[in-house]
Amino acid sequence: MNLRAHVLFATTLALGLTALPAAAQKLHPDVPDEGEAAEIYAARAADVDPADYARLAREGDGEVWSCASCHGAKGEGNGNIPRLAGLSAGYIAKQLNAYAVGLRINHNMQYVAEKLSQDEMLGLARYYAAMESPSAAGPELGGDLERGRELAIHGDWDIDVPACYSCHGSSAWGVEQAFPSLAAQQPAYTYAQLAAWTDGRRQNSPVQLMQGISHALSDADKRAVSDYLATLPAPPAQEAPDD
Ligand code: HEC
Ligand code: HEC
Repeated sequence: MNLRAHVLFATTLALGLTALPAAAQKLHPDVPDEGEAAEIYAARAADVDPADYARLAREGDGEVWSCASCHGAKGEGNGNIPRLAGLSAGYIAKQLNAYAVGLRINHNMQYVAEKLSQDEMLGLARYYAAMESPSAAGPELGGDLERGRELAIHGDWDIDVPACYSCHGSSAWGVEQAFPSLAAQQPAYTYAQLAAWTDGRRQNSPVQLMQGISHALSDADKRAVSDYLATLPAPPAQEAPDD
């Protein structure tokens, strides 16, 4: 399935979800449609050499904090700090922009992202996308792993939740640029995102797909699926984006 077909498919699934009030979702004036944003950033990232940003990631500079100091030397994350290794470059760049404009509320990351230039965001995005590192995650929220597996693979139509794999890929390694990998993600982070969409701290996600899903999942379901996803093998390094 190509990306357009996948987004259309995903949108169709999402229409079954509870309708939510539309939020103003603006990233950059030159990125008008959030659904296309990850692809647009990926195309821009093709012009940037990630090697030029490795030092910034590892050591930071006077203005920018070292990414590795929080996200780990191998981009593996810890606790509520996410794994970045193996996420797509377009998705990472989209998130850095979302923090910078306040579509995602997190004080540390807003402080970091506001200081980054567009080229730095794109270079760091490619640096982490190309990183292959083993899983450093495991269940830690006391979630019901069997229920989590059920949600990931089949969803639960009684509460209008489609299978996570239908959008995030059959190994939860992500699909193209827009649908992020969830496999081997730190469970406290995954859980925090599902909670953030429920309480409005995270407003981004194309056509509010994740807001609808997060509202439908109970707290126990959020724990269950977050813990299950943490048991999966880590995603491989992502291919460099094309021009
Ligand atoms: C002080 C600790 C800290 C530093 C330094 C830091 N981060 Fe983060 N980062 C976090 C935390 C905590 C989150 C989760 C925030 C949330 O829940 O939205 C996060 C989230 C992210 C995300 C979102 C990932 C996703 O899966 O959506 C990206 C991308 C990211 N950071 C990139 C970076 C980059 C690049 C740098 C270096 C320029 C950096 N971070 C420096 C703590 C940090
Ligand atoms: C209809 C398509 C669709 C389905 C089904 C779906 N997702 Fe998502 N999900 C998305 C999209 C698109 C994004 C990217 C949001 C963005 O761009 O900020 C996303 C992002 C996420 C993120 C943020 C990842 C990160 O690194 O920050 C989490 C966590 C997540 N989804 C969990 C789930 C879980 C758990 C399920 C199953 C219960 C699920 N998703 C089902 C489309 C979907």
